Amino acid sequence: MEKHVSVLGAGVMGSSIALAYALGGWQVHLYDVADPFLLRAQNTIQQHLALLTENHLQTQTAVSGVLARIFYTTQLAAAVVDSELVTECIPEVLTDKLQIFHQVEALVSSNVLLASNTSSLRLNDLTTDARHPERFAITHFFNPANLVPLVEVLISPQAPMDTTDRLLQILVGIGKRPILLHKEINGFVANRLQAALLREAFHLVEQGVCTFAELDQAVSSGPGFRWPFVGPFATVDFGGLDTWNRVCENIFPTLNNATTSPTVLQQLHYQGHLGIKTNQGIFSYNQENVRQSLQQRDHHLAQLLKLRE
Ligand SMILES: NC(=O)c1ccc[n+]([C@@H]2O[C@H](COP(=O)([O-])OP(=O)(O)OC[C@H]3O[C@@H](n4cnc5c(N)ncnc54)[C@H](O)[C@@H]3O)[C@@H](O)[C@H]2O)c1
Repeated sequence: MEKHVSVLGAGVMGSSIALAYALGGWQVHLYDVADPFLLRAQNTIQQHLALLTENHLQTQTAVSGVLARIFYTTQLAAAVVDSELVTECIPEVLTDKLQIFHQVEALVSSNVLLASNTSSLRLNDLTTDARHPERFAITHFFNPANLVPLVEVLISPQAPMDTTDRLLQILVGIGKRPILLHKEINGFVANRLQAALLREAFHLVEQGVCTFAELDQAVSSGPGFRWPFVGPFATVDFGGLDTWNRVCENIFPTLNNATTSPTVLQQLHYQGHLGIKTNQGIFSYNQENVRQSLQQRDHHLAQLLKLRE
């Protein structure tokens, strides 16, 4: 059998990670526990591809090739045998992830790379029972993984250098922009930054400085407008370190430093308002505008990707 990559769990992340690999030229074996989950993934993948053709990022012929490269299966052995890299995307439950890695290790040879897309679990905990911990990694993709270029990578400290190189080469080869973390930290880099911004954002709304909508506008029309091309450190260089040093000295003592989740977020969560999943979160939705908002988000991301390329 030809070498391929495997993706385990065909949900939100698994389907778009499978698509990212298939777009990058890999044969992909996508595994889930039951056919309805695979059918749902197949629909999602077709919708993502339709968006890429509408935005002239793929041709119809290329799309047929991509679709033909994805093999859907409910058989774990069929998914992982002869795989080069297995990426686990099942729910964020440590015992479930340990169990599936245990099963996979019994099915693949010792040089196959095993990666988790976990958002919050530690690599050390994921490899507790591993036969070969040195081939384990975390590859943290962002939703939708077929459009967002960043992948945060953490690799076992026991991994030989060529394992790290191999993994990074695979990610670069599918058009991703991986960053290799030098050490493990809760939330990696990007989610820590998002959490720091959210803490202050909720605080500003709670203090009556602005509304939720105004805050979103302040980010997307202000710093966020620059961020696709100029990161925070380059922004400091462009603005002048003398200015930024004074700004930090003046503002840092007034920033929120809470260590609990924002009150409004807790309240909405416990009232069952989960965002687009329930049509009510910080903003209100209906089925029609959820579909439109998601399409619009992906359309804009596709345009941005084209611009960056
Ligand atoms: N959703 C995000 O934005 C996001 C971003 C980055 C990382 N992650 C991480 O990615 C992982 C998956 O998250 P998601 O949002 O795709 O979840 P999801 O609930 O959308 O999908 C999980 C899929 O795994 C399947 N599954 C459950 N148990 C399984 C098993 N034993 N074997 C095979 N498949 C199984 C489910 O049927 C489902 O299709 C989690 O670890 C999550 O923390 C999520």
